[in-house]
Amino acid sequence: MLNRRAALAAIAGAASLALTLSACGESTVGGSKGGSGTIGIAMPTQASERWLTDGKSVVNDLKADGYQTKLVYGNDDPKTQVSQIADLIKQGVDALIIAAIDNKSLNGVLQQAADAHIPVISYDRLILGTQNVDYYVSFDNEQVGRFQALYIIDKLGLEKGKGPFNIELFAGSPDDNNTKYFFDGAMHLLQPYVDSKQLVVRSGQTALKEVTTLRWDGPTAQKRMEGLLARSYGSKTVDAVLSPYDGISMGVLNALKSYGYGAGGKPLPIITGQDAELASVKSIIAGEQSQTVYKDLRLLAGVAAEMADDILTGKTPKINNRRSYNNGVKAVPAYLLQPTTVDKSNYEYVLVAGGYYTDAELK
Ligand code: GAL
Repeated sequence: MLNRRAALAAIAGAASLALTLSACGESTVGGSKGGSGTIGIAMPTQASERWLTDGKSVVNDLKADGYQTKLVYGNDDPKTQVSQIADLIKQGVDALIIAAIDNKSLNGVLQQAADAHIPVISYDRLILGTQNVDYYVSFDNEQVGRFQALYIIDKLGLEKGKGPFNIELFAGSPDDNNTKYFFDGAMHLLQPYVDSKQLVVRSGQTALKEVTTLRWDGPTAQKRMEGLLARSYGSKTVDAVLSPYDGISMGVLNALKSYGYGAGGKPLPIITGQDAELASVKSIIAGEQSQTVYKDLRLLAGVAAEMADDILTGKTPKINNRRSYNNGVKAVPAYLLQPTTVDKSNYEYVLVAGGYYTDAELK
């Protein structure tokens, strides 16, 4: 993993991510740092590789700036996360960086943070229903969904009028604000093909509330996919699955394989994903999962650390979006990064040349 200044140099508008990261090394973009104090970092779960990378990267970046850190993981349980944050407040942290488990469960504890004058950065997932969130750092979440849809549209040849094809839709956790952004971004592009009947959702489950996956859980998605295959497919086959996240894609793949897909002349459908998790990138290389959306977590962590440092040293954090992320109480000033679509054709360039994985890790 590269250091934060190199990462921020890339954000600063370098022409090519891969080239920039390898060329810039210890660039000083981001300015001189000299913070002191302790920053509490509350992450959702250790069960998904991405959040381990997030936690590690944020800690490393803050340490490099002279801060102490307290990193906690909430075991995907909203109550645990609330009490962890309450503990961090009691321990007197100077700022909080929080990736929420349930975006509506934190109002009470964030009031405690506000009373103690502790600034709060909402990390990747927007915290809803409270004025006590100061900044938001994430990716362009609708673009994530658009990339997934565009992949399906392209690979099925829908623009050329091909079809009809069978598709099933999956969405993320209903308590994560990102879920509707991913789903809306995708459906905005897929809906016209559903309307023209080039795409057929045989299960009939097309509304967001029918297709969510609590806590983004792979086995939950697997069970739903098995049910769909049992009830709605019979001798028919599914041609594409919209999946918003690699862990869900893995569950969907397991279900498909248990129904004979991927063998004996029954090809796997197109399956999208998100996060470029190691298992999914390997699956893409092996020709099983088709696509993922890569979000460089080193950049996300770098922006969060930079924001915390700016707040604590009396500077105004950089933002690039004031309006898109309203949490029901206020539009939270945001810094949004750009995701990248990845499949077998470009993973080497994006993920390996970009220094996210080594070739050896992908073996
Ligand atoms: C979302 C996040 C995704 C994915 C998902 C499951 O909030 O934006 O990238 O990680 O959670 O962890």
